[in-house]
Amino acid sequence: MTATPAAPHLREDLLTPRFYTTEIEKAARTSLHHQRPAFEAMLAEMQADYNRDHFDRRVPLDRLRDLSAEEKEAYESYLVRSCVSEFSGFLLFKELSRRLKQASRPELSELFQLMARDEARHAGFLNRALVAEGIMIDLPSLSTKRPITWFPLSWVLYSVYLSEKIGYWRYILIDRHLKANPGNNFAPLFDFFEPWCQDENRHGDIFNMLIRCWPQLRRGLRGKLLSRFFLWSVFLTHSLTVCERGNFYKILGMDPNLFDAEVMRQTNRTASRAFPWVFDLETSDFVDLRDRIVATFRQMKQAGGLQKLGLKLRFASLLLRQVSQPMRATEAGAQEATA
Ligand SMILES: [Fe+2]
Ligand SMILES: [Fe+2]
Repeated sequence: MTATPAAPHLREDLLTPRFYTTEIEKAARTSLHHQRPAFEAMLAEMQADYNRDHFDRRVPLDRLRDLSAEEKEAYESYLVRSCVSEFSGFLLFKELSRRLKQASRPELSELFQLMARDEARHAGFLNRALVAEGIMIDLPSLSTKRPITWFPLSWVLYSVYLSEKIGYWRYILIDRHLKANPGNNFAPLFDFFEPWCQDENRHGDIFNMLIRCWPQLRRGLRGKLLSRFFLWSVFLTHSLTVCERGNFYKILGMDPNLFDAEVMRQTNRTASRAFPWVFDLETSDFVDLRDRIVATFRQMKQAGGLQKLGLKLRFASLLLRQVSQPMRATEAGAQEATA
């Protein structure tokens, strides 16, 4: 972060989005054989670029309403986090596009290039909203300063699929809420969320197609473990972030806990079209455990010494219980088993 001294809410912590890279040689071996029609359809949709004129760079993104210092902090921290997360997607897609081109996979390279185009627009738009707040983030230098996490290809496919779909649900639920409660719409940025979330939805569909190119990733124990771990970790990160930074949702007139639960429910339901297993959120203790995890997380931040150790142990045991909650087999998994 430059230009402004890093205020506490702009400092990085565990919940700040990370930058990723993956096994590119393996990605270059992706077989489109059985997914050819889906691939062509997705590529044509991306080339059509429905949102070409949507992210109008001339629209002023200044806040419409004065916020209290605390609210301003919540809004800015939301912007920073979202901007870094969009930029992290841009970097991953751009790198994949570049390396897939070198590996003589021009079509796949183009698909990633088009997704990078969208993420660059999203990050750029959020960056403009930050500039309107008087905050400059030097994104390119941030990417060279921060460590880049390496993930196997299977992890990237599962986790990026989920982050695109959870992104879709986050944007669309905020959009629907603000359309129903226009009085809470305090910044022009939010008027752009509907077509924006369609970009994320498309990216998620592309990752669903890419997962299908690797059928073994959805089979047997491996498919179940990948589904369980990524759904759980993406939901946990979401819950901790939304509840930690709940003030932002309160300014929008939303209940952070209800928003988090709805985002999880919808994303879990959507994921049943891609993953072989999803959580059984309706009948299990998953969401109740979320409340206890968030409460313990908050206490841990206040506590010290032995009390902190006790809370850490409780936190770990709650996490273990949550990740072990019952799952149900999906139709997407059943197709794979019989394919
Ligand atoms: Fe995006
Ligand atoms: Fe995306």
